[in-house]
Amino acid sequence: MKNKAKFIVVEGLEGAGKSTAINYIYDLLLELGITNVQHTREPGGTLISEEIRRLFKKEFEGENLTAISEVLLIFSARSQLIESVIRPCLNEGIWILADRHNLSTIAYQGGGRNIPIQEIKSIQRMVCKNLEPDLTIFLDVSPEIGLSRARLRSKLDRIEKEDIKFFNKVRSTYRNEINELNHDVILIDSNKELDIVKQEIKQKLFQWFKNTKG
Ligand SMILES: Nc1ncnc2c1ncn2[C@@H]1O[C@H](COP(=O)(O)OP(=O)(O)O)[C@@H](O)[C@H]1O
Ligand SMILES: [Mg+2]
Repeated sequence: MKNKAKFIVVEGLEGAGKSTAINYIYDLLLELGITNVQHTREPGGTLISEEIRRLFKKEFEGENLTAISEVLLIFSARSQLIESVIRPCLNEGIWILADRHNLSTIAYQGGGRNIPIQEIKSIQRMVCKNLEPDLTIFLDVSPEIGLSRARLRSKLDRIEKEDIKFFNKVRSTYRNEINELNHDVILIDSNKELDIVKQEIKQKLFQWFKNTKG
């Protein structure tokens, strides 16, 4: 019997190493014989969602995006991505390897922007319906380390310019909420050097793969 395609999400603060990890996990999946894998990133991943991403990151002189607008924009982009990429791929047996998903919204707009988490989860139910990841890999990094990596990488965007207090709230919400997920979670200490982070990802991903029998 053909095994069901899995939906894997990578989460964490800016500079946690999500993009780096996704490239590495792609190679690990190949090693496991999984060749049908689609990357996604949020917000983004479709024509409309990438437009929303641009809007989301942009700074407008004299007008701030409200916290509610942020949530609604993110979920608009997510709805487009789910219906035009994630669901069709999974139905065709293509694995999804996602850079951010619902947990980011709970951590950033819930923890960071103080929108009640239950309200976010209610929009989430409307947008995602029965769609649930099979696995979340959470790269836990301190905001100081993550932001210093992000600063080296490129100019900071609208969200990356928030203060350390904001990111501390985002991180603590991430850490609380991974215990509330209805699916498997791999927790990685991403403060460590890259070789060690990769080793830990490999060991835990292979163990998960064995436990779920592919
Ligand atoms: N464990 C690590 N130690 C040191 N540098 C890292 C580590 N993981 C990633 N980096 C570097 O930090 C920067 C941010 O990593 P990236 O994968 O883009 O993070 P994210 O996608 O989570 O924002 C990149 O330049 C990357 O090479
Ligand atoms: Mg990235």
